[in-house]
Amino acid sequence: MARDFPKNQSSAPGWMELCLVSTASPHVIVVGNHKGGSGKSTVAMHVIVALLKSGRQVASFDLDVRQRSLTRYIDNRREWARQNGQALELPEHRSLSAPALFGAQADLTGDRIGFCAALGAVQHDFDFVVIDTPGGADPLSLLAHGMADTLVTPINDSFVDLDVIAAVSAVGDAPCEPSWYAENVATAMASRGRVCGRSTDWIVMRNRQLRSGSHHHQPVAEVLEMLAPKLGFRIAAGLSERVVYREFFPFGLTALDPLEGRLLGVSPSLSHVMARIEVRQLVEALVLPIGRDDPPGSVGPEIGAMLDPQPPAAEPAPRPPSMAAAGRP
Ligand SMILES: Nc1ncnc2c1ncn2[C@@H]1O[C@H](COP(=O)(O)OP(=O)(O)OP(=O)(O)O)[C@@H](O)[C@H]1O
Ligand SMILES: [Mg+2]
Repeated sequence: MARDFPKNQSSAPGWMELCLVSTASPHVIVVGNHKGGSGKSTVAMHVIVALLKSGRQVASFDLDVRQRSLTRYIDNRREWARQNGQALELPEHRSLSAPALFGAQADLTGDRIGFCAALGAVQHDFDFVVIDTPGGADPLSLLAHGMADTLVTPINDSFVDLDVIAAVSAVGDAPCEPSWYAENVATAMASRGRVCGRSTDWIVMRNRQLRSGSHHHQPVAEVLEMLAPKLGFRIAAGLSERVVYREFFPFGLTALDPLEGRLLGVSPSLSHVMARIEVRQLVEALVLPIGRDDPPGSVGPEIGAMLDPQPPAAEPAPRPPSMAAAGRP
């Protein structure tokens, strides 16, 4: 039984609003995990940019009212593109704290009404809605989980993160009992099924994996494989620990963007190329209703050229953001 949902459906966090997304379009992707710092905003941004680069219309929502990382990431992207005269794809973005969505009502009911109104406003004009959620069992985040056609859960490649999905202990039986987050996902999915009869494709991916060779023992991956059929998720190849995922935030750039040394102060490295490939593989693993021959984030000619055998460059960080503030990162 979920610990954080009210037991009485009439007082549940707005399950009837799930009717809002009972139609086939847009496809709603929620990036969620109650564990903080698992890579939700990073993954959300890369999925958004991958979809935009494939020509899809994307609306994005940031439900993290405190940190607003996705909103800041998108703001940085817009500003960096403006300052450098670059044409970068941008989603139609809504933040929970934006007046249009949040209004004067700071209570949950107001949030819920604002969120659902904003979602309703984009539902006919966009192919995809991507929702980034905060850590913790925020009621609005739980509601968003119930709206997901696709739920992506990044976990850091660690048993501490895995424990939020299923109880992990070396003592006693093998881990198989769902934990806090998995219980809430199950409740959200069940509510969604009741209200609109639609299912959720739940995908768990490991983030910040250390690159230690393909034959290296990967205990978290092995436990995930065991848990997947029991808890009802699929596993997607995740992302490695890479500078490109954490240092490009101030510029609003992603591994999928053209990485011009002229603008960034670093030359694209083999790590950039590998990051782009693993993001593409992640998006492909989501099996989204793209309906096109060109998969999102597909390897473009410039990357094909970079894949020619060459000694891997070191992985330098781009110039610091203080230089971006001066108009030239
Ligand atoms: N694959 C990666 N390689 C290196 N750094 C990463 C990677 N993924 C995320 N990070 C970094 O890890 C930190 C947490 O990532 P992020 O903010 O995306 O997580 P989050 O789940 O959204 O966190 P929160 O729960 O606080 O919203 C950030 O500093 C981010 O730049
Ligand atoms: Mg976040």
